[in-house]
Amino acid sequence: MIAVAVVGIGVDGWEGLSPAAKAEVEAAQVLMGNARQLEMVPGGFERVTWPSPMLPALPGLFETHRHRRVCVLASGDPMFHGIGSTLVRMLGADRVRVVPHPSSVSLACARLGWAVDDVEVVSMVGRPAELLHPVIHPGRRILVLGSTPASVADLLAERGYGDSKLTVLERLGGPGERVHTDLSYVDPLHVLAVECVGTKVLSRVPGLPDDAFEHDGQITKREVRAISLAQLAPAPGQLLWDVGAGAGSIAIEWARVHPSCRAIGVESHPERAERIGRNARALGVPGVHVVVGKAPEALEDLERPSAVFIGGGLTAPGVLAACWDALLPGGRLVANAVTMESETVIAAWHPRLGGDLTRIAVNRASPVGGFTGWRPHMPVTTWAVTKPVD
Ligand SMILES: C[S@@+](CC[C@H](N)C(=O)[O-])C[C@H]1O[C@@H](n2cnc3c(N)ncnc32)[C@H](O)[C@@H]1O
Repeated sequence: MIAVAVVGIGVDGWEGLSPAAKAEVEAAQVLMGNARQLEMVPGGFERVTWPSPMLPALPGLFETHRHRRVCVLASGDPMFHGIGSTLVRMLGADRVRVVPHPSSVSLACARLGWAVDDVEVVSMVGRPAELLHPVIHPGRRILVLGSTPASVADLLAERGYGDSKLTVLERLGGPGERVHTDLSYVDPLHVLAVECVGTKVLSRVPGLPDDAFEHDGQITKREVRAISLAQLAPAPGQLLWDVGAGAGSIAIEWARVHPSCRAIGVESHPERAERIGRNARALGVPGVHVVVGKAPEALEDLERPSAVFIGGGLTAPGVLAACWDALLPGGRLVANAVTMESETVIAAWHPRLGGDLTRIAVNRASPVGGFTGWRPHMPVTTWAVTKPVD
C-alpha cells in the first residue's frame, strides 16, 4: 500500500498551505476530507467526503483506494486530536506521512500571549463538560475544544470559580476571525479560553477529604486512601480494578491522576454503584466504569488490570485468586482488611506471594465536651504485593 499523506489545513484554506503541503496535495489521485475542506482545494482530483459515521467506514475506504495516492485533509495539526492519529493507529506510522499546520491551540495561544507549554487543553468533542474538573485550579489557564461555553461557565460557577475569565476565539487564522467574550452566540469553529479565578483546590494528589465524595460511611478514609493509592502506583494508560468500590473513592482518585488512567469499580450494592457514577462525574472522571455485581463472578469478562484494589469482598471465596490471576505481570495488588476474617485471608496468602504488610492506625482529633480528644478509627491492615514479571 502506498503511504497516505495527511495534510493539515486551516480556515485560510489553500492560500495558507506551505509549499510542501501544496506539493503533497497536488501529487494525490484521491483527496479525502470533510465537504468544507474539500471545497478549499482547486484541482481535478477524485474527491471523497467522509461518510457518517466516519470511523467504522475508514478501513473499507482505505482498502478500496490501496493502490492509489491518497491525500487526507485534516484541520490544523492532524496529530492533535485529529484524523492523523486515527490513521497511524489503523495503518501504522510507516504508512502515514503527516504535514502539520498550526493547531487551534497554537493559534489561540498566539492570540492570547499564552505559552503553549503552560496551558491545560481539554477536548469536549463528544465528551461531557465534567472533564474540566481536574484541571480547575487557582490561576490556571485552560483551552477547551468543542465546548458549549455557557455550560462551561455554569460548571465553573458551581465549583466556586464563577469569576473566571472566558474568551471565545472563533475561526482562528481565517478572514472571519473574532475574539470576544459574548457567550450568547458562538461560532461552532471556536476555542474557549478560561483563566480560572477561584480559591478552592481539589488536588490531583490522592487523599481528597472524605466529604469530597458522597458516601454512606462505606469509604476508605483519606489517610488510608492516600497510602493505598501510593501503593497502587497509578501510571498513565493503566487500568485499575476497584473491587468492592463502595463510594468509588479509590477508582476515582486513580483516574484523576492522569487523563489516560482508566478504572473499573465493581460494587454489589446497586445504590452504592449509582453513587460511584455521581461521584465520578462530580470529580471530573466520568469515564470511570461501574460494574454492578458480586466479585468474583462480576470480574469474569473484564479487561486484565495493571492494578487491583480490594476494599470489599476479600472473604468471598475466589475473589483474591481471581484478582491475582487476572493481574498483569508487574501489576500491583493492594488488599485492605479491617476484620479478623479478612485478615485471615491475607495471612494465608502473604507467605506464598510475599509483599508488604502494614497496619495503619488513624486517630482524628474531635470535640470531647468543651475539650479536644483523639478518636481512633478501626485499624486497617494493608497488604501490597507486586506480580513478578516472569
Ligand atoms: C469498605 S467498602 C469500600 C470502600 C471504598 N474503597 C471507598 O473508598 O469508597 C466495601 C464495599 O465492598 C462491597 N462488597 C462487598 N463484597 C463484595 C463483593 N463480593 N463484590 C462486590 N462488592 C462487594 C460492599 O457493598 C461495600 O460497598
